[in-house]
Amino acid sequence: MYVVAFNGSARPEGNTSCFIETTFGPLRDDGIECEQVSLAGKVVRGCTACLGCREEGDGRCSFDDDIINDCIDKMEEADAVIIGSPVYFSDITAETKALIDRAGYAIRGGENFMSRKVGAGIAVARRAGAVHALESINQFFFINDMILPGSTYWNVGIARNVGDCRKDTEGIKTMTRLGENIAWLLKKPLDTESSRLTGAFSVIL
Ligand SMILES: Cc1cc2nc3c(=O)[nH]c(=O)nc-3n(C[C@H](O)[C@H](O)[C@H](O)COP(=O)(O)O)c2cc1C
Repeated sequence: MYVVAFNGSARPEGNTSCFIETTFGPLRDDGIECEQVSLAGKVVRGCTACLGCREEGDGRCSFDDDIINDCIDKMEEADAVIIGSPVYFSDITAETKALIDRAGYAIRGGENFMSRKVGAGIAVARRAGAVHALESINQFFFINDMILPGSTYWNVGIARNVGDCRKDTEGIKTMTRLGENIAWLLKKPLDTESSRLTGAFSVIL
């Protein structure tokens, strides 16, 4: 099994990375392969609404000069997809939004491979806006027929400077439990392969 986490922070080794790694802890303990992918400096643009992905219908973005198509490939391969973002002006970062818009629009123009994968968002703030940012991430998972585990609090971390994440003991507990719940879901003997929706999406965004 394989879990991929996209980190939308401008600081690849910052607090968002720290909370993602905390979530990975229980997953790795269960022998699940985990990979964190930083978007910092690797996203050239947001969605240009060129609709090229819809003309091709292959579930890939027409712009292949940055990391987004690699991210889509990793989403297809993964059993669970995590998207982590710092809070910038009460919402997700531009890089995170570009990932959601471009991957989301391209994927929905192709085969429905996200169906019943596990999805989880993580938002990190100094003080405010984290629940709103988490919502922005969760909508990407919900519209793609995915399954979202909870934790003992909303998946938010409170931290400002790099390393502050470790002082947020409640946030660390929340992410640890999130990792346990993702592992629990992934190990459920559900017949998810055969119950997944297949073929093209029936609803166009
Ligand atoms: C441009 C910018 C906007 C920010 N906006 C907010 C905000 O609205 N609310 C908040 O609590 N923190 C805000 N912060 C603080 C970051 O969310 C916080 O430092 C976080 O730990 C950064 O995560 P990172 O270490 O993964 O980069 C902002 C930081 C930057 C650089």
